[in-house]
Amino acid sequence: MKILIVGSGGREHAIAEKIAMNPSVEKIYAAPGNGGMASFCELVPIAATDVGAMTAFAKSHGVDFAVVTPDDPLCLGMVDAMNAEGIACFGPEQKAAMIEGSKVFAKELMRKYGIPTARYAAFDDFAACEKYIREEASCPVVVKADGLALGKGVLICPTKEMAISAARGMMREARFGDAGRRVVVEEFLEGPEVSVLAFTDGDTLIPMVSSMDHKRALDGDEGLNTGGMGTVAPNPYYTPEVAARAMREIFLPTLAAMRSEGRTFRGCLYFGLMITKDGPKVIEYNCRFGDPETQVVLPLMESDLLTAMLATAKGTLAQTEVKFSTDCACCVVIASGGYPVKYDKGFPISGLEAAGEGAHVYHAGTKLAGGKIVTSGGRVLGVTATAPSLREAIAKAYAAAEKIHFENCFMRHDIGQRALKAEEKA
Ligand code: AMP
Ligand code: GLY
Repeated sequence: MKILIVGSGGREHAIAEKIAMNPSVEKIYAAPGNGGMASFCELVPIAATDVGAMTAFAKSHGVDFAVVTPDDPLCLGMVDAMNAEGIACFGPEQKAAMIEGSKVFAKELMRKYGIPTARYAAFDDFAACEKYIREEASCPVVVKADGLALGKGVLICPTKEMAISAARGMMREARFGDAGRRVVVEEFLEGPEVSVLAFTDGDTLIPMVSSMDHKRALDGDEGLNTGGMGTVAPNPYYTPEVAARAMREIFLPTLAAMRSEGRTFRGCLYFGLMITKDGPKVIEYNCRFGDPETQVVLPLMESDLLTAMLATAKGTLAQTEVKFSTDCACCVVIASGGYPVKYDKGFPISGLEAAGEGAHVYHAGTKLAGGKIVTSGGRVLGVTATAPSLREAIAKAYAAAEKIHFENCFMRHDIGQRALKAEEKA
């Protein structure tokens, strides 16, 4: 089979590595890919968001299966465009990707079908939004841009004035462009967060091992929100009781709701959950694998990834084996100094080979320049180790990450510490 992987992050590197293990894979194209994927994929210089060029490439190169995992192309309808040309895909159609593409849509869906989530109100008029915040909201209150905003469109506001100013920035000053034209104002929830990725073909849903992201840039959950600075799996807060309840009250009802709305979801559905004192509630849905959740989940997958992906497209997931190891995994992200705001690129990276001896080194913001791997983004690498215990996985991941160096690099030093404490308490 010829496979096309759309995207260039650590998530796509991890997916490509796993897909390459399937003996029927003859060639993997990565568009646009990164410096790490270059060693076993053919890189294609097409932007992940260029639906027309990507589809034309897939058709002219006889691609059998396209794996679309970044949010933008999914929300732009890349899967629909590929399917229209007879190319099978992993990933939801545009109308199902709405579950991530519009927070207003996701909230309305949950309200209509009784799926537990934070109480909210949605607005497309700033004056009405301001009035609601003044008269009805209690602080802290959460203000969210409706559309895709690179994870930055969520503001937790300690005061009403801050919430109003956040809403004004989105609705009147177009801080997030079209994405902020509508906003969701929602109740602040408390509790540990859990990420659960699940394969689904629309009828059957198979959750993968749970994980925990670390979104803030600095140790102790300080600093700005980022795309994710590290992950561990499994997440100790996701007990078998919570998992059973999430399946019953959230996962299966979401699947049925999407079917009833004529938006059958096929691909990977990501549930961002908060484990509140009233049980698990949905913080967000993503229409795709998470990054860097994928970098801890896939190394623990024992069954074949491509087989599971093909089954989501064919509707045969119920007959497909999806198995995970009982080991633990930790991924530490190495970022460019200044990320997530402003950073330089083009620095050579050393220690990749030594680090790779004890860990998976997933590339994200790297490229091959003159035969050398150099930095080309904010999150540069994700270093993942697995071991029978979380403590060992963390130690192995850090031992490997410490071998890597480039100018101004930084990482968090406490990935997994909160999970370790939770394990000790349990
Ligand atoms: P999102 O992009 O929707 O995942 O939001 C980013 C982060 O903001 C989440 O991972 C949570 O930590 C936080 N967050 C979002 N919504 C809420 C909420 N209703 N209550 C508390 N924290 C929230
Ligand atoms: N790590 C969160 C996400 O992929 O959106």
